[in-house]
Amino acid sequence: MDRTRYRLSAVWGSIACVVIGAFALRYAIVGVRAVNFLAYADRPLSWLSSRPTTIFREFAEAQLPRYVRLSSLVVGHAIGMGVAISIAPFALSSRVRQRRPRVHRALGYAYAIACVVGGLTGTAMAILLPMRGDAIAIAANVATGVMLATFTVLGIHAAIRRDLVQHERWMTRTFALLLTLPTLYAFIVILPIFSVPHAVAYEWGHYLCLPLNWLVCEWWLRGRDATMRWLWRMHS
Ligand code: HEM
Repeated sequence: MDRTRYRLSAVWGSIACVVIGAFALRYAIVGVRAVNFLAYADRPLSWLSSRPTTIFREFAEAQLPRYVRLSSLVVGHAIGMGVAISIAPFALSSRVRQRRPRVHRALGYAYAIACVVGGLTGTAMAILLPMRGDAIAIAANVATGVMLATFTVLGIHAAIRRDLVQHERWMTRTFALLLTLPTLYAFIVILPIFSVPHAVAYEWGHYLCLPLNWLVCEWWLRGRDATMRWLWRMHS
């Protein structure tokens, strides 16, 4: 990919992260009733798959009483994850890191706190609500939340030790875990276009978003390491 195309996709990716984060932050304004907003997604989803669906309205109706019961946890999770994904593109940007190290540090601490709060509240929600889905979906969410909090702590610990290579690797992994949510929504939108029932797409999205994102992240980190080693050999 050439430089301009890379920059353009980074800009679009950053905008998408801010939009997803802002949408989650609606919980900070209207509280747990914000879940009802999801029902508006049924109409475009029905149109895209040429099949009527009420999957999100059913989700909101089933989960609202549970969200009311654990409102602090749900609002805490939405704020934590909303803040984390909105600032992720800036906290992880190598430009900001090189040109504005203080800004990078401040954003980094805010990102880390948001990831730990969002990850742990998400884990608790998966078990205590419980979330919508079977035991495998719950286990996948618990694993994602625990990994998110653990990788964040390991990343910050590496930065404090001044091990910047490991710091960058752990923080890249935390971003891949945050992206499990957009991956899940991609499954829910794309699979029904190919005649997969919406409920099946929802189920398989939950099963696959963690392994898929993790594999792609490790593959990307390996590819980058190989490039760095090649550059190192060329210059030494
Ligand atoms: C960018 C990342 C994320 C954002 C913005 C986000 C945001 C939200 C929001 C706003 C809700 C309420 C339902 C809705 O309105 O959609 C929710 C539900 C939930 N989130 Fe997250 N989340 C993210 C990642 C995660 C992660 C990594 C976990 C793993 C522990 C997780 C676990 C959950 C659970 C268990 C629920 C309840 C689902 C249900 O009711 O069935 N989330 N999330």
